[in-house]
Amino acid sequence: MKSLHCHRPALLALLLGMTASLIFAENGAAKPSPENFSVTTKNFALNFVVSGDGRLYQRTLGAADATTKTARTDECYPPAGDGFIWEPALQVVHADGNTSTSLIFDGVARTNDAAGRELTRISLHDPAFPLEVALNFRADRERDVVEQWTEIIHHEAGPVTLERMASTALLLPAKNVYLTHFFGDWAKEMLTPITELVTPGTKVLDSKIGVRAEQFRNPSFVLSLDGPPAENGGRVLAGLLEWSGSFQCAFDDNGQSLRALCGVNPFASAYHLNPNEIFSTPKMIWAWSTNGLGEMSRNLHRWARDFGLRDGHKTRAVLLNNWEATGFAFDFNRIVGLYDPAKEIGTELFLLDDGWFGNKYPRVNDHAGLGDWQPNRQRLPDGLAPLATEAVKRGLRFGIWMEPEMVNPKSELFDQHPDWVIAQPKRKLELQRNQLVLDLTRPEVQAFEWQTIQDILGVTNITYAKWDCNRYLTQPGSSYLAPDRQSHLWIDYVNALYALMDKTAKKYPDTELMLCSGGGGRADYGALKYFHEFWPSDNTDPVQRVPMQWDYSYFFPPMALASHVTHWGNRPIHFACSVAMSARFGMDLDLTKLSAADKAICAGAISAYLKIRDVTQLGDLYRLEDPHSNARGTLNFVSPDRARAVMFAFQLQDGSAAPVRPQGLDPAKNYTVRELNPAPGRAVIPQEGKTFTGEELMRDGVVPSCAHAIEACVIELGS
Ligand code: DGJ
Repeated sequence: MKSLHCHRPALLALLLGMTASLIFAENGAAKPSPENFSVTTKNFALNFVVSGDGRLYQRTLGAADATTKTARTDECYPPAGDGFIWEPALQVVHADGNTSTSLIFDGVARTNDAAGRELTRISLHDPAFPLEVALNFRADRERDVVEQWTEIIHHEAGPVTLERMASTALLLPAKNVYLTHFFGDWAKEMLTPITELVTPGTKVLDSKIGVRAEQFRNPSFVLSLDGPPAENGGRVLAGLLEWSGSFQCAFDDNGQSLRALCGVNPFASAYHLNPNEIFSTPKMIWAWSTNGLGEMSRNLHRWARDFGLRDGHKTRAVLLNNWEATGFAFDFNRIVGLYDPAKEIGTELFLLDDGWFGNKYPRVNDHAGLGDWQPNRQRLPDGLAPLATEAVKRGLRFGIWMEPEMVNPKSELFDQHPDWVIAQPKRKLELQRNQLVLDLTRPEVQAFEWQTIQDILGVTNITYAKWDCNRYLTQPGSSYLAPDRQSHLWIDYVNALYALMDKTAKKYPDTELMLCSGGGGRADYGALKYFHEFWPSDNTDPVQRVPMQWDYSYFFPPMALASHVTHWGNRPIHFACSVAMSARFGMDLDLTKLSAADKAICAGAISAYLKIRDVTQLGDLYRLEDPHSNARGTLNFVSPDRARAVMFAFQLQDGSAAPVRPQGLDPAKNYTVRELNPAPGRAVIPQEGKTFTGEELMRDGVVPSCAHAIEACVIELGS
């Protein structure tokens, strides 16, 4: 049983807690035809009808309707080979070689989970083959968020081959739908938002690189039904795939309606499913709003704090990382020398980055050492524990970097196990950043990586880790998988990775984890549920971070975006601090080299941040002025009880100090205006220290202290 998502069928009912009330009897008893039913949340409904032909059709999206008219184009989860002519969700080669599948409705069952989410499970089967499909929808009613996934099982005489197995094939019975998606690359993650009208044909957004799969695009998008998406109006539907491997989102427009087929990328991924095993697709998240992107994001952020991240209701520490400060050039004394200045300016957690390990092939640059996870004896003669203990003694927590999935050919690990890497026989090994990916489908590699993680996280006083992943797959061959199972690599790798992440989260519940992949190459809720936050990009130029963090915030709560003050872009430190304060604040600077003036600005920013981080991390985000199309970007956060708020203005080009109008305040409540950590030398803002009602502030705005390029202003609206 290769896929971790394969279970014995008897177990499945157990796992899903199927004590459900059946709406329709599973075995054909009272199966009315045609029949309507829905998956609903507060403002959203996915409406289905079982037609006279026994097939399941999707009808409207959004408000419920009574239509029962059906056409083959509207089949809910269309299978290939038996009359359906558009892009299929499911394509199967049966054990006898037959390439057709047909799906007939069996029944629908509903259960509630402990968190109050409703699970709707629709059962379908092929009338000619013992093959069953279950469509699952888990609805978070209050947030208008629905997770959707599909399970496939069969009892044929031998394996069947899944050529396509989408998580979802959601139908938007609408014309003139706009699609917003985000193109990127290393240091440019999410930086190119594209909004386009979907026209007839199939538009594909995908990744075929398996590991660090999201380097060029994130598996997240927005569909808008009332013209291009707007922040505060119109029907929008965000789609986010919970998958850290090769993915495909195909938008198939047949001139009448638009279908979004999303899931694992079918490219080179044929999956041979043994009888009685279950193939479970990744989950797709759908988030709906009739009030535009702002409400959609706030709903998603709330959902993420509850279900998408670890400890989503706990504020994150202010972190100091040494990567930009020292790179690979450090030893015990150099690192310990950073602790006191770190503590002095108020940081709470120190993160030791790459370069601490490897002996025969020391990790003194990125050419060697990956795979040899023993602390370097010259740099750290007594290992990691004294470094961590020294940090704790000085009032800092200690965190560590690791990249457990990778190996340098210059390593003892590779010397001993050259066959453990993902490679294609007869081809010259292709390196990226001088490294290779270990083959996680191989049990010995799984055991090795798990041991590595335990050896690192088991060190006394390590309470934080950054899990990195710095290359993608270009030669997808496994010496472990059988020749006829090579195409399983893409999927089995990710499932084995999730098993490892899951074990890590369970064994170290108090260790916070940062998800990193050479920046944002792995920023998705498939992995994020085992982590506390992610590293959005190595690009920490705050001028670039303003639009980048804006774009990420469509899908991820700012508390999950690590944002560090560095010297990238050589921007004024006040601007850099202000930008970092609007997400999970951290620093990556050699504090020993910082001028006294800059140090004071950093210390002021941290002390201000400690007072407002419960609002910025746990509150609601309102995006105000889009930095992509304005001289400045502005946003504000509001605490869950709406008693406090924090406003940010990031001036990217020269402009005017026009008032910033916050949103989401309680109109009747009083708020006192205070600029936090004002930049030295700037005039006091006109409303400083004055109290206004929420209504007045939202109507008249607050005049910020910045009007010139690369100035920023952070304003608290306090109680
Ligand atoms: C890539 C990460 O994005 C950086 O922050 C740093 O951790 C390096 N890897 C270390 O090799």
